[in-house]
Amino acid sequence: MIHHANPHANVAQVLDNLDAIRVLDPHGMLDLTERFPDQCRDALQISRDFLAAQGAPARPSSIIITGLGGSAIGGDLVRALVEIGGDVPVIVNRDYRLPGFAGPNTLVIASSYSGNTEETVSAYEHARDLGCPRICITSGGELARHAARDGVPCCIVPGGRPPRASTGYLFIPTLAVVAASVDLGAQCGLNAVDASLGHLDELAAEWRRENPVSDNPAKELAVALHGRIPIFYGAQGWTSVLALRWKGQFNENAKVHAFANALPEQNHNEILGWTRASQQSSIWSVVYLRDPQETEDQPRIARRIAVLQAVIASSAEQHEVWAAGDSLMERLLGTLYYGDFVSVYAALLAGVDPTDIAGIDLLKGEMANLNGNGR
Ligand code: PA5
Repeated sequence: MIHHANPHANVAQVLDNLDAIRVLDPHGMLDLTERFPDQCRDALQISRDFLAAQGAPARPSSIIITGLGGSAIGGDLVRALVEIGGDVPVIVNRDYRLPGFAGPNTLVIASSYSGNTEETVSAYEHARDLGCPRICITSGGELARHAARDGVPCCIVPGGRPPRASTGYLFIPTLAVVAASVDLGAQCGLNAVDASLGHLDELAAEWRRENPVSDNPAKELAVALHGRIPIFYGAQGWTSVLALRWKGQFNENAKVHAFANALPEQNHNEILGWTRASQQSSIWSVVYLRDPQETEDQPRIARRIAVLQAVIASSAEQHEVWAAGDSLMERLLGTLYYGDFVSVYAALLAGVDPTDIAGIDLLKGEMANLNGNGR
């Protein structure tokens, strides 16, 4: 890890005070985070039961996963996995309408944890109008009602959690449906998730609240990022999806601005933003999400990161997060999980409730007061 001395080390004590954590996290986001491996176990069972009951969907010519925010990121991860091993195009749609190519050979997976997100419900209706085969993944709400009305298969997951703390319940059924309709290869399918659960248990034990900052890499990185605006860089593929996930988790849990980008695209525009950054960047920190496989699989990306680090060196603190694990799925899920822990600890350091999403709720409430669904 490349980083400079952390001026906020004294605030770290709060993370080692279990009573303080209980007060700062009244709705239990850290608890949900610690129990993520069990959520994945449950989600695997739900996914297998769902597929056993529904049978595999017919092979589509394309797949659209439609959802927003915490209900879209699992789709992004599935898309990145399909790009590695699959032979059917997958896109993630974050809008009221589907793209123009959608039709009867397009499988549409509508993912909304609450089931009440208006853009997702609208996209589902658009898919119905276009004659697309559909599958819903939700804990209930309007989406579940629409699916029941239309006789559309609906994978119901347990409700009552924040969507972003339900990634296992959203990602794993989505992967299950896609893997049942497209050949993904062994390293990207459900069995790979199953085989990663022991690894997630080990990570949970390493990053849990009882482990002090001095012996807890998740707390340590949260302390290093305290009071700073993080910029997450991944490489095209799954690490760029995780850069977006880390950004979203810092936004929603820690209530801080954060930014994300991917190489090589970053090297063709945003790199110039660093030219005068030393005049603007006193609280920026860059976090590179890296895969040990990149030096073998993408040596030119590894070289690009080295050059970029030299460009940024005089302007911002820089950190590297190296994905750990033997398999692709272990590294992917482990890096996702690390960001969840770090962002929750960042929230506790900042003294904000990680569960609170008043701004999102306000906007959804205002939109619900309007007539129509916007399509
Ligand atoms: O994390 C969140 O709460 C949001 O990003 C939601 O996921 C987003 O607003 C969409 O809601 P839902 O996941 O219920 O469809």
